[in-house]
Amino acid sequence: MEPQRILLIGGTGFLGNHLARRLSGAGHWLCLPTRRRERAKHLLTLPTSMVIEANVHDPDQLATLINGQDIVINLVGILQGGKGQPYGKGFARAHFQLPYLIAAAAKAAGVRRVLHVSALKAAADAPSGYLRSKTAGEEALREAGLDLTIFRPSVIFGSGDQFLNVFAALLRRMPVMPLACPNALFQPVWVEDVCACIAASLSEAGSIGQTYELCGPRQYTLRQLVEYVGAVTGHRRPILGLSDTLSYLQAWAMEFVPNGPMTRDNYYSMQIPNVCANTCGLPFGLSATPLEAVAPTYLLGLSRKSRYNDFRRSSGR
Ligand SMILES: NC(=O)c1ccc[n+]([C@@H]2O[C@H](COP(=O)([O-])OP(=O)(O)OC[C@H]3O[C@@H](n4cnc5c(N)ncnc54)[C@H](OP(=O)(O)O)[C@@H]3O)[C@@H](O)[C@H]2O)c1
Repeated sequence: MEPQRILLIGGTGFLGNHLARRLSGAGHWLCLPTRRRERAKHLLTLPTSMVIEANVHDPDQLATLINGQDIVINLVGILQGGKGQPYGKGFARAHFQLPYLIAAAAKAAGVRRVLHVSALKAAADAPSGYLRSKTAGEEALREAGLDLTIFRPSVIFGSGDQFLNVFAALLRRMPVMPLACPNALFQPVWVEDVCACIAASLSEAGSIGQTYELCGPRQYTLRQLVEYVGAVTGHRRPILGLSDTLSYLQAWAMEFVPNGPMTRDNYYSMQIPNVCANTCGLPFGLSATPLEAVAPTYLLGLSRKSRYNDFRRSSGR
């Protein structure tokens, strides 16, 4: 495929970091807007890429960013968007209003090709504001009549994730692991597989108008995943699976912790199995990578880094 000019919105986060590297490696020209350039330091040296501090919610700034691009990819997503019906203000802004603005700006600029990352199980009647707002964003883009492809991943794992890495850090520090929603089901998908699907869709005309669910090869309960992380990092701990009521209460209590690891909205999301309807997992003939083939490579790295940091702390350095 000829190099394309791509506006990668939300490209400075976990998925964006991996995707930017892949797309840049394939020779595409990337524009990466961020709210704070400071946070995108890791991408500043990426070839064929430009990090720009911008407010993508401002229609004028968004129009300037989109003008002259061949493709827009939107990865913006948040897990905590406040309370409200059908969803909190934060979710409305990031998951619905922004896709709506992107659709309008893309149409005005004549940029037809738009790729959008949503979430598995997004639906208007989903139990959480996160999932309801994600479906509203999809609809805003569909209604614009663009050459649209939507991806709906299950939870994504890989180097830098905020999933297995978080459990690894908790297991390292806690003698017992109280676990909310221990039976919640996931079908984790590797970040590089998600990126491979997004990249493949760019040269796949048949992907226009499609919505793809992205899952790994296996389903796990949350308890199984946490047990696995403990086994890999050498921090096996007794896992105290919380009842439904205690899970809800823990999520509620976490809402009082600034940037806490869980909210009641997250609890609601976990009430439905986060697994794919299609067991084959990935489109474009790609095969999904098993979690066990990848997770040890970065979880063990984290474990060593944590030990090094502990050593520095204990020696006063
Ligand atoms: N990670 C997963 O397990 C998972 C699973 C299913 C779906 N997804 C979806 O995949 C996408 C990428 O996820 P991720 O894990 O890479 O997220 P992430 O690491 O939290 O990155 C989020 C990105 O969105 C930008 N952003 C966040 N809030 C914003 C706002 N209010 N306005 C403008 N930009 C904002 C951030 O940019 P700056 O901070 O630089 O401005 C950052 O680039 C999201 O849409 C997410 O919902 C992720």
